[in-house]
Amino acid sequence: MSANPTYLAPGDGETVFAVSSVPIKFGPGALRELGADAQSLGMKRVALFVDPHVLASPPGETALASLRGAGLDVAVFDQARCEPNSDSFEAAAAFARDGAFDGFVSLGGGSVMDTAKAANLLASYPDELVAYINAPIGKAKPIPGKLKPHIACPTTCGTGSETTGITIVDLKSAGLKTGIASPLLKPSLAIVDPTTTESLPGGVVAASGFDVLTHAVESYTARPYTSRPRPAQPSQRPPYQGSTPYNDIGAIAAIRIGGRYLLRAVRDAADTEARHQLMFASTLAGLAFGSAGVHIPHAMSYSVATLKHEFTATGYEEREPMVPHGIAVVINAPAAFRFTAAANPARHLEAAAAMGAETAGAAPQDAGEILAQAFLSLMRATGLPNGITALGYGEADVPALAEGAYAQQRPLVMAPRSVSKQDLEGLYRNALRYW
Ligand SMILES: NC(=O)c1ccc[n+]([C@@H]2O[C@H](COP(=O)([O-])OP(=O)(O)OC[C@H]3O[C@@H](n4cnc5c(N)ncnc54)[C@H](O)[C@@H]3O)[C@@H](O)[C@H]2O)c1
Ligand SMILES: [Fe+2]
Repeated sequence: MSANPTYLAPGDGETVFAVSSVPIKFGPGALRELGADAQSLGMKRVALFVDPHVLASPPGETALASLRGAGLDVAVFDQARCEPNSDSFEAAAAFARDGAFDGFVSLGGGSVMDTAKAANLLASYPDELVAYINAPIGKAKPIPGKLKPHIACPTTCGTGSETTGITIVDLKSAGLKTGIASPLLKPSLAIVDPTTTESLPGGVVAASGFDVLTHAVESYTARPYTSRPRPAQPSQRPPYQGSTPYNDIGAIAAIRIGGRYLLRAVRDAADTEARHQLMFASTLAGLAFGSAGVHIPHAMSYSVATLKHEFTATGYEEREPMVPHGIAVVINAPAAFRFTAAANPARHLEAAAAMGAETAGAAPQDAGEILAQAFLSLMRATGLPNGITALGYGEADVPALAEGAYAQQRPLVMAPRSVSKQDLEGLYRNALRYW
């Protein structure tokens, strides 16, 4: 692993990084301890957020039995929407406000965990959703204080939302996917039980597994924290610091695990070793990007996910047509890393090698293509769509896609090189079709 070149930044550059982490409980059987953990956080009346598929799955039964077995009063909200929008967030917030809960539990993928974070916020400090949404799309109102305790229990090997202070939503008024980011949104505890992944359809493992790989590679290749100016006050240090020596450790480990196990985990639901490993990678990558930040592939994903809803991914046949988050992100990754590699070829080569690519003797100018090909061969092997054309987009959509991505300045400023609207148009053109 190539360390950041020095802990001493030039001029008035940042010299300090901070680590703040959600307590994590990981391992098969961890979900059975949910009730006891909720009790020790002082919960008595609990809102359990799930979606109908998760509620009907073995983890749904385990979670309810554990909470009720601990004598807690549990009310279930099972209407969390896959890829939530502002309407589904408002419905969840109304449930949270009306129920007078003293604690929240989310059991599901990123969609469910994000819904619970937003409901907790809007019930604790009522305001319109857009007030808290990141600028420039929303008003970026600071969260006034601590939220109620929230235990997040992921059931996809993907988002890492159980450790992040982020919630993502399709904001209907803006026609864009965007989010709220604040350390105050971080769950109080993450219970990561990898057995929850055993009922996942292979297509959901593919989409969420590529989310893991992009989180990890984007945080590993994000601009270094030393490249930001040092804040005048410690409180002004941004939650996304850029790559740090601490985040690099989790990111590179997650890339290795994802490169080794993603294909096996997609192909065979009975391959518990692969699925459990991918769940661990998901948590590691969540810790890394939750503090380093992600950049161009994620910034580009939001308009890919919101401008057209014509695609049905394998594993998502029972849902309305839409582009699952992990696919909306990774579809841009080959184009984006071809572009960013020039800023730090060594890191891009290390990421490619960790994914299993041959990098011995590679020249710096080949770094972007080698990393792009590492993604492309895994995308082809797992049956992912061939570029954004397969999602319904064409050349005529490129300006609108770039306009939407350019509004995502929060991730874009973490890119290792600056990116203009024109650059983004070029990246979408490159992502139209790959093979
Ligand atoms: N907050 C963050 O830090 C963060 C990070 C990345 C992505 N996200 C967001 O997370 C969302 C995507 O989340 P996701 O990829 O985890 O998928 P998801 O939550 O949308 O779930 C995908 C599908 O899998 C089903 N499912 C989930 N667990 C299951 C299980 N154990 N068995 C059977 N079926 C199961 C769900 O019912 C759903 O239909 C997007 O909205 C994305 O923007 C958030
Ligand atoms: Fe993501």
